[in-house]
Amino acid sequence: MEQTLSIIKPDAVKKGVIGQIVSRFESNGLRVAAMKKLQLSDADAGEFYAVHKERPFFGELVEFMTSGPVVVMVLEGEDAVAKNRELMGATNPKEAEAGTIRADFAESIDANAVHGSDSLENAQIEINFFFAQREIV
Ligand code: CMP
Repeated sequence: MEQTLSIIKPDAVKKGVIGQIVSRFESNGLRVAAMKKLQLSDADAGEFYAVHKERPFFGELVEFMTSGPVVVMVLEGEDAVAKNRELMGATNPKEAEAGTIRADFAESIDANAVHGSDSLENAQIEINFFFAQREIV
């Protein structure tokens, strides 16, 4: 059993597809162990994406992630990290396989609907960034 962090990004929240995205996870064996909606500050987004600080897209990434509320979730299940990434599709929606969340709901590499942890180690760090242990059930 693994846990991973999922973020429904501002573009997907604005579109009103939170339910449709959660449904993709639930119907593919991922259980929602924790969930909340929040507005990220510049400091929150900068810290969460600190690994990308030197990348040319960092400023736009922080601007986009603070452009409206997000929904953060802990997803739990067998091979949860890999399964979540498979369901999301490629980072760039133009390269995402048909039927994936990004192919169906994302507009661009910035407004790409969802984020998912890329490894078990990062999943734990990202989960701890957003959730206290008592919020994960
Ligand atoms: P995410 O999985 O949230 O991780 C970092 C985000 O940076 C990524 O999704 C994209 O939305 C965004 N991004 C913008 N430009 C790029 C790029 N050239 N390569 C990777 N990620 C990018």
